[in-house]
Amino acid sequence: MSSAGRVLVTEGELQARVSQLGARITSDYHGRPLLLVGVLKGAFVFMSDLARAIDLPVDLDFMSVSSFGESTRSSGIVRIVMDLETDIRDRHVLLVEDIVDSDLKMTYLLELLRSRGPASMEVCALLARADSDQSQIGYTGFVIGDEFVIGYGLDAAERHRDLRSIHVFEPRTRSH
Ligand code: IMP
Ligand code: MG
Repeated sequence: MSSAGRVLVTEGELQARVSQLGARITSDYHGRPLLLVGVLKGAFVFMSDLARAIDLPVDLDFMSVSSFGESTRSSGIVRIVMDLETDIRDRHVLLVEDIVDSDLKMTYLLELLRSRGPASMEVCALLARADSDQSQIGYTGFVIGDEFVIGYGLDAAERHRDLRSIHVFEPRTRSH
């Protein structure tokens, strides 16, 4: 058994922050056609809200990667489960991530995507851990501590992605 614990970021706070990020991206990318690349599955909710908060024509694409296992720790060994459809050469790419934890996954993806010759490459992360290297993140939603969080796209073993707020995950070890 497990359940969603206390709310860390409310639905209202998420909406307000996504609007701010959308406004910043809108002004930064004025005149530069933007391609949003969402990393599935964690970024799917954030990506759909962010795309609608950007007041520019945007193209969307997704990729799906898995860092081995369903554990709560990323190994940094990333397997491409589904690659982009879009040729990103000479495109202005904004990589949309759920959470930057150790930053191994983001670093791997940036290296991979940069090797394909985009015109520019930035990262927009919904969440970043306070102790992670944030130097590669252009746009950050919220900086959080070391709590494991769920909701607004983020999962614990594939559960709870549909929660409207971000909660701290509280595993219950008692068997039933
Ligand atoms: P990194 O390579 O350590 O930065 O791992 C980032 C990935 O780990 C994220 O894209 C998530 O899939 C997963 N992850 C890390 N922390 C959390 C969390 O608190 N909740 C849900 N997934 C997390
Ligand atoms: Mg996960």
